[in-house]
Amino acid sequence: MTINQIFKIYFSPTGTTEKVVSALTDALAEKLGLKEQVYVYDFTRPDGRTYFPELGEDDLVVFGMPTYAGRLPNLMLPYLKEFVKGNGALAIPVVTFGNRNFDNSLIELRDILEANGFHTIAGAACACEHSFSYELGAGRPDEEDLKEIRDFAGRIVSKLVEIEKQHTEAAPVQVPGIPADQNHGGYYQPRDRHGVSIDIRKVKPLTDMEKCTQCGLCAEICPMGAIDHEDVSKVPGICIKCGACEKKCPLQAKYYDDAGYLYHKTELEEMYARRADNAFFL
Ligand SMILES: Cc1cc2nc3c(=O)[nH]c(=O)nc-3n(C[C@H](O)[C@H](O)[C@H](O)COP(=O)(O)O)c2cc1C
Ligand code: SF4
Ligand code: SF4
Repeated sequence: MTINQIFKIYFSPTGTTEKVVSALTDALAEKLGLKEQVYVYDFTRPDGRTYFPELGEDDLVVFGMPTYAGRLPNLMLPYLKEFVKGNGALAIPVVTFGNRNFDNSLIELRDILEANGFHTIAGAACACEHSFSYELGAGRPDEEDLKEIRDFAGRIVSKLVEIEKQHTEAAPVQVPGIPADQNHGGYYQPRDRHGVSIDIRKVKPLTDMEKCTQCGLCAEICPMGAIDHEDVSKVPGICIKCGACEKKCPLQAKYYDDAGYLYHKTELEEMYARRADNAFFL
């Protein structure tokens, strides 16, 4: 087993997954002497999901996605299943989550990568700032997280050395969660204090036209291509509430007024105020 190239591959609407994947990949590249052989593939925007780089047995991939409702973002599954092929590459599935829980997203990503020809040798779930909020997991990944991620890279390199010595194929990394034959436990369902479920699927962000200059950035970066380029106050496409348009608008012109969405956001902020731990698996 020789590793000649290392890839950072991610879906990251608000940029936290990109930070985590980059920190882990860069630390691995440094330890493996591959700093000049690092390649990036970002499939956040729709045009990134019409292609996937050709991988092979001498590649190591750090593959990152956020947790949405306890699973992987479901509208990304067709791309993962149709385009993403490992051809024997080693992979490290990484999920981020917004300080609540990653539930079954890591096991789902591990299973998809294994089914698509990758060999998973390690995995991580990292707590990050929540897409809906500036309070929940505020500023994470922070320095403490990045240090833990760099330390993990050292342990992965030791494992790679062991695998090399044993001349065997590594078994898929063991991660917690409900297996695929039980549909990974279904999706997490937000509920109000009386246990009534809150449905935010049809909610879309609004635009404060007093603040907006129609610069077009939100329409350009929307992972679903949902925002009208001619009039950004219109969202004719499917919105996954990823937070990109709201958090990246330079004038804070995007907002939500849906009562269920706002209730859920406040409830999460109240219930999950503690600092969630990162989880690393070898
Ligand atoms: C629709 C949606 C559902 C989410 N569900 C969860 C969840 O179940 N648990 C959790 O801890 N965080 C959840 N999050 C928060 C994201 O996983 C987290 O903020 C992640 O770091 C965002 O990644 P990004 O910055 O790469 O976009 C959710 C975010 C969105 C947009
Ligand atoms: S990014 Fe903000 S200012 Fe620019 S068009 Fe979108 S809402 Fe308007
Ligand atoms: S419109 Fe929806 S999907 Fe598009 S960037 Fe905004 S929150 Fe994300």
